[in-house]
Amino acid sequence: MTDIDFTHRVAIVTGAGGGLGRTYALELAARGAAVVVNDLGGRFDGQGSSHGMADEVVDAIRAAGGKAAANYNSVSSRAGGESIVRTALENFGKVDIVINNAGHLRNASFEDIDDETLDSLLDVHLKGAIYVTQPAYRIMKQQGYGRIVFMSSGAAAFGNPKQAAYAAAKAGLLGVMNVLSLEGKDHGVLCNALLPVATSRMEAAMDPEQLAAFTAQYASLGEKLGSSYLPEFVTPLAVYLASESCTSTRAIYSAALGRYARAFIGVTDGWAGPRDKPATAEGLAEHFQRIGDVGAFSIPDSLSDEFSIIGRILGQSL
Ligand code: NAI
Repeated sequence: MTDIDFTHRVAIVTGAGGGLGRTYALELAARGAAVVVNDLGGRFDGQGSSHGMADEVVDAIRAAGGKAAANYNSVSSRAGGESIVRTALENFGKVDIVINNAGHLRNASFEDIDDETLDSLLDVHLKGAIYVTQPAYRIMKQQGYGRIVFMSSGAAAFGNPKQAAYAAAKAGLLGVMNVLSLEGKDHGVLCNALLPVATSRMEAAMDPEQLAAFTAQYASLGEKLGSSYLPEFVTPLAVYLASESCTSTRAIYSAALGRYARAFIGVTDGWAGPRDKPATAEGLAEHFQRIGDVGAFSIPDSLSDEFSIIGRILGQSL
């Protein structure tokens, strides 16, 4: 097994002052990376700001002999994103890695989502990741190397009540990751998304009933759970996806309670209707089971790959 080493690599970790991001920054630095520790230093719901969170992580990295620089800007503006990348350039001369992790959480039933909630979640998770990644990607493309990790969520990939706005932002990241992977591949820039599960201060945003349900699910695992709910159990996957050893791109991975897996969007072989006139709604109703049958499916590598798959299936059905 080769060691995963980040000597001479420069990483940006957004939201690295606490929770998951803090562990990513510490581990990358311990493995030799120079790390930009970005954190706005506010509350779990996005209110407030301070320098303390980023500074604490930078101090810890330096105390252990590593290299780090703090950035306190919000990812939620183009100027903020550019300043984070500038911190990397001014302190370390380049950017090889971006882990888009910064974010906050506000839960609301679908009918109660107001513009403030919607805008703040889209701004920090979706636009924030674009604002940081865009200037970093230009540098990566020019140097012919880069690794980008997007912190998405199972709430987006699979659904979770009271998180429609959050899920919209996190699902948007999957779209960005799919497209940027295709654009970046020939330039050595690989992108993946991660669906983490770990205990964090974001639990404060959940309603007590839902939190109790999650806690009961954790409790039902008993001894098997160990300490696997800690952020450190997600860290190895984020670090691997950020490494040169990782050749995966355009993929979604799940890290939860010490279990690491791939998640994917696939398409069933489906049912091929008549070619000379559109199928009827009744015809679809008749074949709906086949349309939804996950017994045979493909995972397209791109939109054009989906066309090839459709062509293959049409060929078989002629
Ligand atoms: P956390 O609240 O501990 O970490 C988020 C960090 O981002 C905080 O340190 C915060 O100060 C920082 N931040 C917030 N807004 C910012 C902004 N505008 N600019 C810069 N920094 C900002 O929460 P946690 O759980 O560590 O979350 C990390 C990421 O993982 C988030 O994107 C979250 O949505 C995602 N996630 C977490 C899950 C979990 O189970 N903990 C599940 C699914 C996704």
